[in-house]
Amino acid sequence: MAEVVIVESKAAAGALVADEIVALIDSKPDTVLGLATGSTPLPVYEALRERLAGHDVSRVRGFALDEYVGLDPEHPESYRSVITREVIEPLGLDPARIRVPNGAVETIEHAGDDYELAIDAAGGVDLQILGIGTDGHIGFNEPGSSFASSTRVKTLTEQTREDNARFFDSIDEVPRHCITQGLGTILRARHLVLLAFGEGKAAAVAAAVEGPVSAMLPGSAIQLHPHVTVVVDEAAASELKLADYYRYTFANKPAWQGI
Ligand code: F6R
Repeated sequence: MAEVVIVESKAAAGALVADEIVALIDSKPDTVLGLATGSTPLPVYEALRERLAGHDVSRVRGFALDEYVGLDPEHPESYRSVITREVIEPLGLDPARIRVPNGAVETIEHAGDDYELAIDAAGGVDLQILGIGTDGHIGFNEPGSSFASSTRVKTLTEQTREDNARFFDSIDEVPRHCITQGLGTILRARHLVLLAFGEGKAAAVAAAVEGPVSAMLPGSAIQLHPHVTVVVDEAAASELKLADYYRYTFANKPAWQGI
């Protein structure tokens, strides 16, 4: 069962996850991080800024979850740009060690396999940060995605395009295709940390954590993983049946255990 931690604010979620990442980097300087984009992980990246000051991050490696296909990597909303702006630059990471799937149309046929090989060559992802879409997607694995899938091209649902239109001038600018780590890829990471904030995510969180395991709700794949931490605010936790049990469990957790 996933460990569910209900926190009072996004900042508290960011602090909790950032502490875990700093400890990981201190114990393994070439830690491989799985990096999500979108608005959800921003409190983690923000909390990491001050916490990582003075720590050696020169060997930290990272793999982004996904990228739009056919969007100029220089576009401010390409995930290459977002990762550079929100993660690489503020945290002082080595850009050569941080990969984002290559969404260029010319080479897209091989881009998924290339990415899988690069993750394998790095020894796999140590800690994967995840957000969740209102339709239950993780990465850009939309409903129906195979639990065994690896990095590949997917078609975004209209719901996801509408959700992401806020980052663009209009919905017409939101690409229809993406390249995303598969659910199988995500499940190979050693620790999954899924964050969600706000009422809009409550149904997806409840279905992912407590619903049946189903390809129709890709986030439910986390139930197949032995080490998952779900960090949610009260609003995103509002449809969890076992919320009181999660609170009790976390309040009584031995300090040495970490998340
Ligand atoms: C982003 C990603 C997506 C987002 C999800 C939630 O790399 O893979 O699964 O995590 O769409 O987006 P936000 O965080 O913007 O609500």
